[in-house]
Formats: sequence, C-alpha cells, structure tokens
Amino acid sequence: MKGIILAGGAGSRLYPLTLVASKQLQPVYDKPMVYYPLTTLLEAGIREIALISTPQDLPRFRQLLGTGERLGVRFEYIEQPHPGGIAQAFLLAADFVGTDPVCLILGDNIFYGATGFNETIRDFKLGATVFGYSVRDPERYGVIELDPKGKIIGIIEKPTTFVSPYAVPGFYVYDGKVVERTRNLKPSPRGELEITDLNKSYLADGVLNVHLMPRGVAWLDAGTSSSLHDASAFIQAIEKRQSIKIGCPEEAAFRQGFISRMDYEKLIGSLPKCEYRSYLENTLSNTF
Ligand code: G1P
Repeated sequence: MKGIILAGGAGSRLYPLTLVASKQLQPVYDKPMVYYPLTTLLEAGIREIALISTPQDLPRFRQLLGTGERLGVRFEYIEQPHPGGIAQAFLLAADFVGTDPVCLILGDNIFYGATGFNETIRDFKLGATVFGYSVRDPERYGVIELDPKGKIIGIIEKPTTFVSPYAVPGFYVYDGKVVERTRNLKPSPRGELEITDLNKSYLADGVLNVHLMPRGVAWLDAGTSSSLHDASAFIQAIEKRQSIKIGCPEEAAFRQGFISRMDYEKLIGSLPKCEYRSYLENTLSNTF
C-alpha cells in the first residue's frame, strides 16, 4: 500500500499565520503539523509516500522531510499548481500510484488512539474504505447516511439538514482503480473534484466499506486558529501526562523496524540538543 499526504490549499482560514508558513507546517504543540499525518502513515506500515503541496510550499516540505532515507522510507514530492479538490490528488499522483492500492491522508488531520487504520490496511482487498466519526458539527464535513440497520446508503458533503453525526475523516483507503475512477469524475459546482463524489462512485458499485470509529479515538482537524489551538492543547495534555510523544516520525520508523537501532542512534545524534532529542534518546531504553 502506498500513501499520499495532501498538504495543499491556500490556508486562508489561518490567515495571517499562513503568511509565515503554510498551514501544514504550523506548529501543533511541539512539532510541525505534517509530522502527525506522516506518523499515522508510518505507523500503518506505509513506506512509499507522496506529499502534494503548492509550488510555493513544496520546497519547504522537501527541506523538512528530505528523501525519507533517514526514516527508511521513500518520499516523493508533487506540485498542485491550482487547488482542484481533494480527489485531484489522484490525478496529480497518477504516476506514483499506478494501479496500486493507496491511502490518502489530509495534511491537517490528526488522529490518536485505536483508529483501526492498521487492521484496515492489513485486510484491505478491493473497493474503498472510509471511516465515520461522531462529531458535534457534522455539517462541516462529508457525512455518512445509514439505514436503520446501520448500512451505509449515502455520503453527503456538508449537509444543510441533519443526516447523522458521522463525519468522514480525512483518511481514505482505495484500490488500484482509484486513478481511473477519478478521471471519470465531473467537477462539482464549485469547480473541484470532490472526495465525496469519488467515495460515492465506490458506493454506487457496492464496494465502499465504512468503519465507524469507536469511542476513545481522537480525530482533530487543525484548519482554523481555534481548532489548531485545541489540537495543540490536546497533544500537550497527553504528552505531559504520559511522557510519550504523539506524531514523532523518527520513533515510528524505528518501532516499525524501518531503520536499524544503529541508524536510529545516528539520526538522533544528528539532531541539536533539545527536548525532542532527549525524548528520542529515552525511546532507546523504553520498550512501550
Ligand atoms: C474535506 C472533505 C470532507 C471531509 C473533511 C475531513 O472537507 O470534503 O468530506 O469530511 O475534509 O477533514 P474540507 O476540510 O475541505 O472542508
């Protein structure tokens, strides 16, 4: 399975912060935002990852993350010249994806807890898999419509009347047909290739799976200054309490066995003396 991180967008909702850096490079407590979705992919065992961003911001991501070699993975960087909707990612990354299964994560989505992503990826065969997460404000998202038996019958993008509390988070898994299916999509009235339309095409063919996330999973999106602050506060609360870090790609690469202990030690040695480095040093001796 390959992975895509979509880190585009004008970030206008975060203005003036986005004058300084793009949204997905903003700090979420103690790390750049993109570390979180990247770590989610690494923890799911994904080693080939394309990052899509604007021509202006892509060089900064490349500078931050490099080739991936130090994490034992491969990064590819792809420009999104004009924002054209989330599903446009599959057209931009068509060569990278080929006909392989792929998962897409939005660069401002932060997940924590027993999401079920690993099991989904491990057991994935055909079609597409999306998740459902109960939220207070479903009207802000793509929302899952269920029949009385709990079977999915629709997905509605930003519904104006109540459909269900289940928003679709920005983590999607697709089979090798995704590029072809995206090519057949028509732009929405706002001129974008909507991820919801792509999911609906799988639903229409009876091959869309939905996993409702259990209680205890945290899904945060950090796209506004208020939700960015909430995400930072959440990460800080857990990290302080448990002395673990969330969204730490180096640690994830080591725990996944993508890099040897020796390479991990070398990587840690290359970092400046700071709290982040001390944390990584501690992970060498603890086993959880
Ligand atoms: C997008 C999708 C929506 C999804 C959401 C998750 O919305 O269109 O279906 O639920 O991401 O973050 P946007 O954040 O672009 O408004």
